[in-house]
Amino acid sequence: MKKYSLWSAVFIVSVTLSQQSMAAGDPKKGKDVFAEECGDCHSATPGKNKKGPSLFGAIGRKAGAVPDFSGYSEAMKQSDITWSADKVDSYIAQPRKVVPGGKMKYDGLDDLAARADVIAYLSSLK
Ligand code: HEC
Repeated sequence: MKKYSLWSAVFIVSVTLSQQSMAAGDPKKGKDVFAEECGDCHSATPGKNKKGPSLFGAIGRKAGAVPDFSGYSEAMKQSDITWSADKVDSYIAQPRKVVPGGKMKYDGLDDLAARADVIAYLSSLK
C-alpha cells in the first residue's frame, strides 16, 4: 500500500511538472529557436518544403502527411504518430529514438525551455 501511494505521488508530481514546462512556452522566442534550429530544413509556410516538410499546421497532424513532400522515410510514414505537443517534444529531443530509421538528421535539442518555445511557435501557426 505504502509503495503504491509513493509512486502515485511521484507520478502526479512529474505530470504536473511536465505540464508546467509545456505551458511555459513563448511563441515569440520560439520563432527564433525555429529559425536557428529548424529553419535550414523546415519552413513555417504552408506548402513550402525544404529538406524536411513544411511545419505549418504540424501540431495535430498525422506524421508523414504533407502531400507534396517526397522525402519522408518509410519509418515516418509507418510510425502512426499524431503530432501532439508532447510527441513533438520527445521527437525533437531525440529524433532517432522516437522514429528509428527516420531521415531527420538532427541531433536533438536538449534545452527543455527552447523546445517548449518552439512548440508554442508551431502551435501558433494557423
Ligand atoms: C537537417 C535537417 C533538419 C533539421 C535541422 C530539422 N528537421 Fe525536422 N525533419 C527533417 C526531415 C528530413 C524530416 C522527415 C523525416 C522522416 O521522414 O523520417 C523531418 C520531419 C520533422 C517532423 C515530422 C513532420 C511530418 O510531417 O510528419 C517534425 C514535427 C519536425 N521535423 C520538426 C522539427 C523541428 C521542430 C526542428 C527544429 C527543432 C527540426 N525538425 C529540425 C529535417 C530536419
